[in-house]
Amino acid sequence: MIARRDPTEHDVQIEILFCGICHSDLHQARNEWSGVMPTVYPCVPGHEIVGRVTKVGSAVSKFKVGDLGAVGCLVDSDGSCPECKAGFEQFCNNATFTYNSPEKHLGGVTYGGYSESIVVDQRFVLRVPSNLNPAGAAPLLCAGITTYSPLRHWDVTRGKKVGVAGLGGLGHMAVKIAHALGAHVVVLTTSPGKKDDALRLGADEVVISRDANEMRKHSGSFDFILDAVAAEHDIGAFINLLRRDGNITMVGAPEKPLPVSVFPLLFRRRSLSGSLIGGIAETQEMLDFCGKHNLTADVEVIPIQKVNEAYERLIRSDVKYRFSIDMASLKSE
Ligand SMILES: NC(=O)c1ccc[n+]([C@@H]2O[C@H](COP(=O)([O-])OP(=O)(O)OC[C@H]3O[C@@H](n4cnc5c(N)ncnc54)[C@H](OP(=O)(O)O)[C@@H]3O)[C@@H](O)[C@H]2O)c1
Ligand SMILES: [Zn+2]
Ligand SMILES: [Zn+2]
Repeated sequence: MIARRDPTEHDVQIEILFCGICHSDLHQARNEWSGVMPTVYPCVPGHEIVGRVTKVGSAVSKFKVGDLGAVGCLVDSDGSCPECKAGFEQFCNNATFTYNSPEKHLGGVTYGGYSESIVVDQRFVLRVPSNLNPAGAAPLLCAGITTYSPLRHWDVTRGKKVGVAGLGGLGHMAVKIAHALGAHVVVLTTSPGKKDDALRLGADEVVISRDANEMRKHSGSFDFILDAVAAEHDIGAFINLLRRDGNITMVGAPEKPLPVSVFPLLFRRRSLSGSLIGGIAETQEMLDFCGKHNLTADVEVIPIQKVNEAYERLIRSDVKYRFSIDMASLKSE
């Protein structure tokens, strides 16, 4: 049993219904990001949380008992620094991540959503549009916002040619969101078997990224590429696909550094950048956007007992397209 604090006046207590499995959970459970954020064991991952509000503090106005509430990658920040004031809580030096982050109330580290319940300040609890299925909505809290934020920042709109590299949890949400934004979407995948799914999810074209001939046909033609690949890969092959002033944004966080040849950036003034989840207001904006367009993740719902198997499948890119853990299964433990 994980210790959770009693709700203070600003807190919301949530019984967790579903929690998505993000590849970041796997990276951290296996301490693959040891250079940046070493894992403190025991580690309880999970930052794609949807649940039922079971208790609220006296000053909570946003939620009442019985509401659906959602929690993503952040559970706290100082609220006073320039990043917080600008709505970028994810960049706050004092941000508290949902797991493996210093826990301010009880000491130790925070524990995430692979658990029965969680207590979070109401500022970091999101509303889930009522038309969205909770199991499929859970992954929006990380995969949804992590793709929505850079797509919006880089002004992906109708008429833009947009690439999505890596059709996994993040990638498939990027396809759905970019399609809903009206872009011409091209999936860049290493898995020929995902072609039909990519088209069904909203892609206009599919390119097998390991096929140099297919890649060459798209050379210099993309306005924007979102790279959601979780492992080492040839980013240069994607940079060559960008047009003048085109941008490729990394959201994938491979364990090892990627070599980048500078010349393809110099020619055509292309740029390479990164993006980390999104702020709280933008996360709510994304959820409302998904509500309006009826977008959720394609999920395979699993009991907690299958979590290790799910991790192995994630490594083999064998997931369509997000695992969502039914937390009721914890009760049989
Ligand atoms: N920046 C952020 O804020 C943020 C937030 C969440 C997650 N992440 C990171 O984003 C990455 C993706 O997360 P995810 O949950 O979407 O993972 P995922 O579901 O495992 O999807 C990753 C996809 O990458 C491709 N891929 C995997 N191994 C590959 C390889 N060796 N070479 C080329 N392509 C490969 C596969 O797509 P194809 O089969 O289509 O090739 C796979 O489906 C992870 O590194 C995760 O930690 C970052
Ligand atoms: Zn995540
Ligand atoms: Zn701050």
